[in-house]
Amino acid sequence: MKIQDIKKICVIGAGNMGHQIALCAALAGYQVACTDISQEMLNKAEGFARTYLPERVAKGKLTQEQADGAIANLRFTQSLEEAAGDADFVIEAVVEKIDIKRKLFRDLDGIAPPHAILATNSSYIVSSKIADVTKRPDKVCNMHFFNPALVMKLVEVVQGPHTSAETAKITMDLCKKMGKIGILIQKEIYGFVVNRILTAINREALFLADIGVVSPEEIDIAVTNALGHPMGPFRLMDLTGIDLAYYKAMERYRETHDPKDKPSPLVVEKFIKGEWGKKTKKGFYSYE
Ligand code: 3HC
Repeated sequence: MKIQDIKKICVIGAGNMGHQIALCAALAGYQVACTDISQEMLNKAEGFARTYLPERVAKGKLTQEQADGAIANLRFTQSLEEAAGDADFVIEAVVEKIDIKRKLFRDLDGIAPPHAILATNSSYIVSSKIADVTKRPDKVCNMHFFNPALVMKLVEVVQGPHTSAETAKITMDLCKKMGKIGILIQKEIYGFVVNRILTAINREALFLADIGVVSPEEIDIAVTNALGHPMGPFRLMDLTGIDLAYYKAMERYRETHDPKDKPSPLVVEKFIKGEWGKKTKKGFYSYE
């Protein structure tokens, strides 16, 4: 198979990442089916596309034809069978829980055509922890986008030991077709590249806030004004989801049993309160 054979893309999960990945693919000219178990999430995702595209046209960033084309390319459905049944390439962007992903890939393997590549957008679950539930491990890899996916250029493609060179190449080519910059990571490693760096920053930022040296807001002020990052670590956690930070740390801790991998007290507190960041309108900051 070659990149030219990819015409239909299925995006599973219409949440924080999925709705924008689907739109990126639709803007790149692919026929995209976005699916989610929640109709509410699908409605939100469709609503976002219908607001975002006219705004881009009004801003002069897209032509009316490009916006119309993207809308025509997109469909939203709760049915996995309908979304993945004719897909050439599937991008899974559901919650970061391994059991859910494994069950989904098992189902997906029976639904998607045999030639379809099954990629996971997981930030840290390497695809070898999922690929074995399918009969096509050579066609399974990580394709990790960054939030907000419509803006951030980088995509990490991770080639597991089971992933064929052809799958890695097509996935890298797809990044390019979607206007992204792909990097090919040829060895599975926890956190890939970017999240390893980000985790180190977040760990230190959370430690400083946890011991009361300085407030989260001041840490963000420091990082944006001294290091030139567009957002400080706390505002960024609000964007990517404090629930994600919690699940990530818990999953890692279960594996390593290393206390330094436990979620920080501040993350646990926010997680328990349901203050998960922008998506719940409150995290380290308020978004009312
Ligand atoms: N969705 C789509 N587009 C958005 C957006 C969103 N949520 N937020 C901003 N944009 C677009 C705007 O439309 C604008 O586009 P334009 O310049 O083409 O008109 C552009 O981004 C700049 O927007 P603003 O002027 O409103 O705001 P900022 O200049 O503050 O930029 C930002 C917002 C792009 C989010 C910027 O703050 C940023 O780059 N932050 C860092 C994001 C980051 O580090 N992401 C990686 C997170 S790690 C991750 O995702 C890994 C995962 O595994 C957890």
